[in-house]
Amino acid sequence: MKKRLQAVLFALALTSTSSILHAEGSIDAGKEKAALCFSCHGETGNSAVATFPKLAQQNTSYLEKQLQAYKDGTRKNAMMSAVVTHLSADDISDIAAYFSAQEITANPMPLEDEDEDNKKTVKELIAEGSDLYRNGDLEREVSACIACHGPFGEGNKPASFPSIKSQHADYLIQTLKDFKSGVRSNNPENMMHMIAKKMTDEEIKAVSYHISMKK
Ligand code: HEC
Ligand code: HEC
Repeated sequence: MKKRLQAVLFALALTSTSSILHAEGSIDAGKEKAALCFSCHGETGNSAVATFPKLAQQNTSYLEKQLQAYKDGTRKNAMMSAVVTHLSADDISDIAAYFSAQEITANPMPLEDEDEDNKKTVKELIAEGSDLYRNGDLEREVSACIACHGPFGEGNKPASFPSIKSQHADYLIQTLKDFKSGVRSNNPENMMHMIAKKMTDEEIKAVSYHISMKK
């Protein structure tokens, strides 16, 4: 009984601090404020250009964290730092609420690589990526993605682990390479750097293809 009460109190303490720190954004206000994002990220957060990440259905806490990071320069990108400079904390919450409430669209199959020395087909790469996603690689200490990003790539809202399902493969490849090289370094405990640095370029491509097809 005492234990249960403690658990309830703990849960209450958590929810009340998080609601003080994170006032829920307004989806309606967010839609208006997000207008300047639509040219690159699409009106529903489903960008047409594969190097611009989709934002639809993403966790609000992750979106807010990344926007703040572009603002304070801990995540660097010339296009993004230009648009976030004038956003207030309220703007960021509202915009995050808007994109989070949109539905992510499915991707078409990646195209076969024209590269002649590439002997693996898209299907083979997706199968290899699926195995890495579920099981990781124990010997080389690549953690299984499923542990944090979930069986469907849906992420983990309470922990702010991002949703990655149906993200564009080109963006996934780019951002995993950025984690690997350290260009993208604002991830908690350098978690994604530690994982990506052990991955080969082929594994990055394979797992990105697999994630891009997850729904
Ligand atoms: C000129 C094109 C452009 C515009 C306009 C733009 N973005 Fe971006 N955005 C990008 C690119 C490119 C990236 C990937 C940058 C990187 O690799 O760090 C990105 C990344 C992001 C990310 C990180 C996504 C992730 O999965 O980590 C968020 C969040 C984001 N943009 C939100 C916005 C919001 C909100 C606006 C409007 C206020 C906006 N963007 C306007 C091009 C743009
Ligand atoms: C221990 C937990 C953990 C594991 C295991 C993990 N990730 Fe992550 N991942 C994270 C966190 C936390 C972030 C957010 C980093 C940040 O805030 O920049 C992230 C971010 C990402 C992103 C960037 C998403 C975006 O929208 O920009 C990709 C892609 C990704 N992970 C892929 C993978 C892949 C592929 C694997 C397996 C090989 C993997 N992750 C394993 C915790 C994990």
